[in-house]
Amino acid sequence: MLARIADVYGHRFEFSEQQVGGAAIDATGDPLPADTVASCREADAVLLGAVGGPKWSDPEAKVRPEQGLLRLRAELGVFANLRPVRVNPHVAAASPLKPELVRNVDLIVVRELTGGIYFGEKSRTADAASDLCTYTTGEVERILHVAAALAAKRRSKLCSVDKANVLETSRLWRQVTDRLIPEQYPAIELETLLVDAAAMHLLSRPADFDVIVTENMFGDILTDEASMLAGSLGLLPSASLGHSRCGLYEPIHGSAPDIAGKGIANPCGTIASAAMLLRHSLELENEATAIEVAIDQVLAAGKRTADIADGGSDVTGTADFAQAVVAQIN
Ligand code: IPM
Ligand code: MG
Repeated sequence: MLARIADVYGHRFEFSEQQVGGAAIDATGDPLPADTVASCREADAVLLGAVGGPKWSDPEAKVRPEQGLLRLRAELGVFANLRPVRVNPHVAAASPLKPELVRNVDLIVVRELTGGIYFGEKSRTADAASDLCTYTTGEVERILHVAAALAAKRRSKLCSVDKANVLETSRLWRQVTDRLIPEQYPAIELETLLVDAAAMHLLSRPADFDVIVTENMFGDILTDEASMLAGSLGLLPSASLGHSRCGLYEPIHGSAPDIAGKGIANPCGTIASAAMLLRHSLELENEATAIEVAIDQVLAAGKRTADIADGGSDVTGTADFAQAVVAQIN
């Protein structure tokens, strides 16, 4: 895909492939080898394949593929994870929800990615376990700035999701939000929701949302839920951004071990992540849009991977679908 973009638009991209996750554990014992970190740091952008799988999922294992991904996010300082959910009208029928409910959905979740319970101290004894959740004012402020700036370029609606009726970190989150947004972004319409209610509102009135901002774990859970609005987890891309230009781009889905090697996975999430990479790290907006339009065109023509197939569609495999998208770029 990126090679085709380079050809058609006259760019030259240099690619370097590095290991992370299970493959890296097998090769080196470390899910994020130093060479991988060094190479990512040198790059303008990182496109990541999903990590994880049954081979490395022993609950007693000290080393897991997911640690590689979490460490890479932390190493690159990519604290803002953008997960857009747009419903393609041609695949609205693939959603388990009523087409009239999902038709106008166009939202983006801004998930805090390098703090909270994912990164707090963990401990385990024979019969007890603990995961610590911490947020600082600075961490909340910087993600709010990303979300508010994004909302200002869209429909100027920002929904902050927390659990302020129970969690101290959420009370801090809400306090910072209620101060910072009206003060610094007076034109933004701010709504705050508790995460349980947000999970419900995402299904009852999904088209109302514009930008949703939330902490790490709530964002993880809500974006898997939100993917069902679009029809499949396989459709959604993500961009993880920090203060530097180098971003990390990955589909929101996991490694789908149940279909591994069958050639039937939906490549849209990864291809659309490459589009986000062009937009956010390389400032190639036209090229990014061209990829997004190409995906829409292939879907509009009725081509589908199995996860979004319906009665009348032309069901195809991963490589064939991806080729069809590439062929649209000319
Ligand atoms: C995601 C994934 C990861 C996360 C896993 C693989 C660690 O679920 O990117 O949403 O929880 O962040
Ligand atoms: Mg997830």
